[in-house]
Amino acid sequence: MGANFKSDNAAGVSPPILAALAAAGAGDGVAYGEDAWTKRLEGRMAALFEREVAVFPVTTGTAANALALAAIAPPYGAIYVHAHSHANTDECGAPEFYTGGAKLVAVAGAHGKLDPTELKRHLAVAPRGVHWNPRAAVSISQASEAGTIWRADDVAAIAEIARAHGLRLHMDGARFANAVAATGASPAALTWRAGVDVLSFGATKNGAFAAEAVVMFDPALAEAIGYRRKRGGHLLSKSRLIAAQLEAYLADDLWLRQARHANAQAARLAKGLAARPGAARVHPVEANMLFLALPDRAVSGLTEDGFLFYRWPDEAGRSVIRLVTSFETEPAMVDGFLASLDRHL
Ligand SMILES: Cc1ncc(COP(=O)(O)O)c(C=O)c1O
Repeated sequence: MGANFKSDNAAGVSPPILAALAAAGAGDGVAYGEDAWTKRLEGRMAALFEREVAVFPVTTGTAANALALAAIAPPYGAIYVHAHSHANTDECGAPEFYTGGAKLVAVAGAHGKLDPTELKRHLAVAPRGVHWNPRAAVSISQASEAGTIWRADDVAAIAEIARAHGLRLHMDGARFANAVAATGASPAALTWRAGVDVLSFGATKNGAFAAEAVVMFDPALAEAIGYRRKRGGHLLSKSRLIAAQLEAYLADDLWLRQARHANAQAARLAKGLAARPGAARVHPVEANMLFLALPDRAVSGLTEDGFLFYRWPDEAGRSVIRLVTSFETEPAMVDGFLASLDRHL
């Protein structure tokens, strides 16, 4: 009994991606991203996004975010982010480090989504002049850290405010696949068509070993990233092994099939929880994450039964846990969790 709901990062590597890694690792190739895998990936990404894009594979989401933000904000600029965003709370200052000192400004918003009215308020009161960080960029997370989704209209609403103030828009797409799967919208509709300038395209949480990519929709911003990636120690000589993972990830819609599966397991959990009034959902369940407020005895009982999850800080002081489903989550794990909950509620 028991199952691991700690994170989609806790899952393993999807077999087709492992096979692609093994195949790419079996032979030689040109180093530093000048290889056939990376060239093919660029073409594949252009088809996926229905336009020319510049693609920079890296191995961590933190590197993707930090490099992307460095491309759109000067060292003295202000970047508006959700207060609970990964960039603001979980990257040990990497965005500040890679930008050379840009200031992250935390903006509030319900259920993990930066609130457009709050953003406007911040921008309206931000003083101008040499003493204050000039407004440079906005960053939103898809899916958000609360597991909610930005639909194309939501993205466009933020992009409109950003454009009106001359700001660039970044999307942290660590769970981009879950958002595309959840909305059914095209990758283009959720990004550049809605006004996103640069995307951190995640794959690790959805079955890759270590593969993310900075996807630039504005060619003018692309050149500097190559230098920044090298300077920041993220240009892998065997970069083809990242490209090979991403190629397999996109082939035959593997990325969407896996994300749909993860989302469906979260929906199964949410449906089961709806019938159990002792377990309150803290945020709407829209992708592959659930946040539950439970009595302490239920949290202890679930842990004793072998279920793994993180306890999550809660501003209202409740006992909240986070559950994340992945491409590996089986329906029986979800049902086992619900049965355990019944015993301990
Ligand atoms: C929303 C979000 N962005 C980015 C990341 C990047 O993660 P890492 O640097 O661990 O690959 C994570 C990982 O947990 C995340 O949840």
